[in-house]
Amino acid sequence: MQSVDESVKKLLSGEGKNIPLFKVFLPESVMEPLRKVLLSGYIGEGPQVEEFERQLGSWFDNNNVLALNNGTAALQLALRLANVGYGDEVISTAMTCSATNEPILALGAKVVWADIDPWTGNIDPKDVDRKITPKTKAIMCVHWGGYPCDLDELNAVAAEHGIKLIEDACHAFGSTYHGKLIGSHSDFACFSFQAIKEITTVDGGALVCKSRADRERGRLLRWYGIDRKSKRKDLRCEADIVEYGYKFHMNDVTAAIGLEQLKYVGKTIEKHRANAKRYNEAFKNLKAVRPLSYKSDRSSVYWLYTMRVKDRQKFMEYMKRAGITVSQVHARNDNHTMFKDSKVNLPGVDEFTSEQVSIPAGWWLTDEDLVKIIDATVEYDRCYQPKFQEIRSPSRRRGKIPTRQANV
Ligand SMILES: Cc1ncc(COP(=O)(O)O)c(C=O)c1O
Repeated sequence: MQSVDESVKKLLSGEGKNIPLFKVFLPESVMEPLRKVLLSGYIGEGPQVEEFERQLGSWFDNNNVLALNNGTAALQLALRLANVGYGDEVISTAMTCSATNEPILALGAKVVWADIDPWTGNIDPKDVDRKITPKTKAIMCVHWGGYPCDLDELNAVAAEHGIKLIEDACHAFGSTYHGKLIGSHSDFACFSFQAIKEITTVDGGALVCKSRADRERGRLLRWYGIDRKSKRKDLRCEADIVEYGYKFHMNDVTAAIGLEQLKYVGKTIEKHRANAKRYNEAFKNLKAVRPLSYKSDRSSVYWLYTMRVKDRQKFMEYMKRAGITVSQVHARNDNHTMFKDSKVNLPGVDEFTSEQVSIPAGWWLTDEDLVKIIDATVEYDRCYQPKFQEIRSPSRRRGKIPTRQANV
């Protein structure tokens, strides 16, 4: 029988399998710090969390960081700190993970959809402005795939109406806007460290606040509203709790993994960007496959490399046969029954969702994988006709180029 270790290694290497769209980055070197913490007798929120927050603060160039147990918690805490409550409205995007918008419902507020730019997947600041009402308490934006939203414009709308801007930056750890890392441009930026993100703590997240006051209130709310730092008369019994909170804090075990991840993330991000650059070059003149349209004043971390593809279903089937995993990743949220009261026309979302698809772009791709993905994509484009004609079946063998040489 195969040992667990061998089968896990095989799974992670992708050997004999499709080229994966996502991969967990967990270096062997996490084992030693993990072992130390696990056997230390202290595994709750403690010194590892504090150190992880300190290092994240240096990363973001903003010390108002709270390490939390997931990205959804970060979003809910940000909404709470923005004082979103029953009957309020939050303007948001439908083009995201449902985790962006479910916390709005959890607080008793209504989601108001703004449309998106169909060439970036990001919320359109002009439509956000049109959707403001006296009930609007906050704007939620999502950096699709890691490509930063129009933050200057969104912050201007928020400032004009005295409301908060919350960035769901769960795709965007390492992305920059006007030369600065995402995490210090708006009132709140929320990050996820779940399994397949740029850094993972298995599950985890962070909320980065603009103001110290929000950070301090958030520090209490992430742990039942209790100040863990205050002296207690009794070892266990807390003093008065002023406002209710949550159990959203990170623990020392997951923070120890996060600290190790930070040593590698610069390199893995570099690889994502280099892969995306090769795709941009290879796909720039294609007709049926078109990369999204990105501005040069910001840079994506390319958690996703999303393209717009004619006859997307055919493309997805073709890539599957070629042994390359592709996906739309997120379904538009406005079609979910839970959001039925928010339904409006969103032509930008219609356009984007009808063609968008992401191909593997991460640190795990070998040169051979890249050539194979580029070749398959170029070949699809070459054979595409408005009425799609069958194209030659691609080879499943890893590394074997199914058709002509890639244009790279
Ligand atoms: C855009 C977006 N927002 C929020 C989340 C939620 O993060 P978490 O899974 O850490 O709760 C995710 C997670 O994948 C996401 O992609």
